[in-house]
Amino acid sequence: MEIGNIHFRSNLFLAPLAGYTDGAFRRIATEFGAGCCVTEMVSAEGLARGNDRTEELLRRFDGEEELVMQLFGPDVDPFSRALDHLMPYRPTMIDINCGCPVPKVIKTGAGSALMQEPERIGRIVSFLSRNTDVPISVKFRLGWDMNSMNFLQFAHICVDNGAKLLTLHARTRSQGYSGSADWSQIKRLKDEFRNTDVKIFGSGDVLCAEDAVRMLSQTGCDGVMFARGAIGNPFIFSQVRSLLESGKCQRPSVDEIIDTVMRHYDYMAELFDERSAGHEMRKHVCAYVKGIPGSSRVKAEIVRAVTREEYLSALSALK
Ligand SMILES: Cc1cc2nc3c(=O)[nH]c(=O)nc-3n(C[C@H](O)[C@H](O)[C@H](O)COP(=O)(O)O)c2cc1C
Repeated sequence: MEIGNIHFRSNLFLAPLAGYTDGAFRRIATEFGAGCCVTEMVSAEGLARGNDRTEELLRRFDGEEELVMQLFGPDVDPFSRALDHLMPYRPTMIDINCGCPVPKVIKTGAGSALMQEPERIGRIVSFLSRNTDVPISVKFRLGWDMNSMNFLQFAHICVDNGAKLLTLHARTRSQGYSGSADWSQIKRLKDEFRNTDVKIFGSGDVLCAEDAVRMLSQTGCDGVMFARGAIGNPFIFSQVRSLLESGKCQRPSVDEIIDTVMRHYDYMAELFDERSAGHEMRKHVCAYVKGIPGSSRVKAEIVRAVTREEYLSALSALK
């Protein structure tokens, strides 16, 4: 798959997920076949000010080739001050967050608030396109609420100013993450740009491999962003590939899940330290073991687990 002048291994991407898509999770997702991953959203203002945490968010794992870096901010000014700080991290593509519904972000005019004044996204995309060789992408929602679904107009402003990839999370800001995503609007967006080289990715309610295959066929979108469906389930990337190739896919065995959790733990400990890995892994493990018989015992023990041995011992309840 080509976006702008960049070649990606596949059109199945790991979506930006605040609090999740660090280097360790991205490494696991890549091993299972993610075509590229997106960092969690990084504040353009924080980056411009040299905030320490941003360095952590943008750091690649060893061998990570492509990495889309997502920024958020309300207007062109923080992006223009952030750009020189961002470029040394060699983003493969820069994505602009226009979908975040969190009040703390919206009240600064960033995230989905940009959909209320689309001329601001025009200025941001135009500035970035003119000042870097890196393709620019935009991730947005249907609109602010059901009464202001302006995603088609918004998309045209992004493309007119140079965006090469548009990802539509097919919910409104007021829906947050509830209700269902309206995939028919992803199809409308794809149809709108059918005869152009702009790529359209779909996001929303891709919770299993079968969902991704259905989204691709029902909407004609160029690619899929996996979000909640990949948390605790990086297997989803290889499952989609296998479904597309052979019409079948296998669920991972308990042993495979335990091996994957422990590898994830090791990558996390490599990236941070054992203590932080112990804390950060808890939410991932709860997602990995969800629905497996014996998972409630694992969850109860994981709350106290920190070291590798404690994790392994907690997970043994699944066997
Ligand atoms: C915990 C969490 C964190 C998220 N963080 C981001 C983010 O940093 N940037 C972004 O553009 N979207 C973010 N999203 C939205 C997802 O990328 C995705 O568009 C959304 O969850 C819809 O897909 P799904 O229904 O398949 O989960 C986040 C979603 C969740 C659940």
